[in-house]
Amino acid sequence: MNFQSVLKQAGVALGTQTAGGIEAHTPIDGSVLTWVDVDSAEAIEAKIQAAARAFLNWRAVPAPTRGELVRRFAERVRREKEPLGRLISLESGKILTEGLGEVQEVIDICDFAVGLSRQLYGLTIASERPGHHLLERWHPLGPVGIITAFNFPMAVWAWNAALALVCGNTVLWKPSEKTPLCALALHRILTEVIAEFPAASADISQLIMGRRPAGEQLADHAALPLISATGSTAMGKALGPRVAARFGRSLLELGGNNAAIVTPSADLALSLRAIVFAAAGTAGQRCTTLRRLIVHKSLIERLKPMLRKAYASLPVGSPLENGTLVGPLIDGAAFERMSAALKAARQAGATIVGGERIALAGMEGGYYVRPALVEAERPFASMREETFAPILYVVPYESFGEALALQNEVHQGLSSAIFTNNMQEAETFLSATGSDCGIANVNAGPSGAEIGGAFGGEKETGGGRESGSDAWKTYMRRQTQTVNYSTAMPLAQGVQFSID
Ligand code: UN1
Repeated sequence: MNFQSVLKQAGVALGTQTAGGIEAHTPIDGSVLTWVDVDSAEAIEAKIQAAARAFLNWRAVPAPTRGELVRRFAERVRREKEPLGRLISLESGKILTEGLGEVQEVIDICDFAVGLSRQLYGLTIASERPGHHLLERWHPLGPVGIITAFNFPMAVWAWNAALALVCGNTVLWKPSEKTPLCALALHRILTEVIAEFPAASADISQLIMGRRPAGEQLADHAALPLISATGSTAMGKALGPRVAARFGRSLLELGGNNAAIVTPSADLALSLRAIVFAAAGTAGQRCTTLRRLIVHKSLIERLKPMLRKAYASLPVGSPLENGTLVGPLIDGAAFERMSAALKAARQAGATIVGGERIALAGMEGGYYVRPALVEAERPFASMREETFAPILYVVPYESFGEALALQNEVHQGLSSAIFTNNMQEAETFLSATGSDCGIANVNAGPSGAEIGGAFGGEKETGGGRESGSDAWKTYMRRQTQTVNYSTAMPLAQGVQFSID
């Protein structure tokens, strides 16, 4: 597959090399695809001001009309699913079926948002005062800053933008500098749809190209009431306090160190399929990737060879080639971090299977690795860190309580899973005393969530919730309203204040 034709089919305009510009690479072979100009601080300020001005009109457009814009956008994305999916594979390295799946995730959240545009429900509340009406309404919030990571270069923006737009907000998107082309392609479609939609001004959606300082400029800007950021815990630790310092709201979706517990009653064949997809799929580069496998000691010696066999036969190669299940890591730095984590595991006495770099003819500049299994007798310190690579730590447990404690002992709290056919274990895992994560699954791996549920996690994962359920409420401001339709002036709590 010719890389330039992938860009062309996705409508990516080629750029030229400029000082300070972003060099867009493909992890397939490490080659340069094109260049993207970055926005100066002044240009970013102008975009923020434009989005703030556009908000003044957009907030007054009826929500179902705002939904209609999102519906038209999704229609276009449906039509361009194939080239967009290919572009995701080219620029992020995920295999084509996952690239297409990500575009589907964009479409799904748009459909959800369209329905939502007629369901931004408030409450009516019983008033304690006669002749009074108490209610709660949701209003648009303002321009929303959206900062996204390389590994879901389209879907995570869509989770935020589709909801934010139907909620009456304008949006500013700063994509990862590792995947600027996915952002250009998707944003171009939205821009074209907006151009044919009289109720919306071109300024309701802004694309900002830049590096860390661009993200910081959004984080610090008082005109942006909400910053939604996806990325590492280190990024969130730097960004969250900056937004909080100006009393902005942040929605953080940060690191995960997701575990699965395999209990004695588990269906091992089913578990194996789920484990391998969750741990080695997307080359271990999902925030929901399975990183720790906690296996009952009675079956760990049976499961290990099954895992080793499955791992050894995983087709590693170009994500655009049919049959590949594991594409490349995003870059050399990711490979360095993976190697350092494996070294630490070796020093801790663990047995490592896989993890080596694989040289593929014609793609020598790509960082292809054999996904790694790290088998240990007991947990060790570096297992508690998130390494964004296909490393699966496998440890035994004796009692169910011990398994739960291991699952919950890390600083991150995104996703979790249990494989069991024991109702007591499944229900305990899902109960208040079970998994402490934002996502908890039974007989399904921790990754690959549907858009209908709220997505996010606790502890160092940042606490934010995006996507489905009532995540939309983060994108609106709540107003409690009291209307007195009587001729009297009673005060709440029975307070008397007579001036007669
Ligand atoms: C991410 O890795 O940042 O649940 C998002 C999943 C996908 C989204 C992952 N639907 O794995």
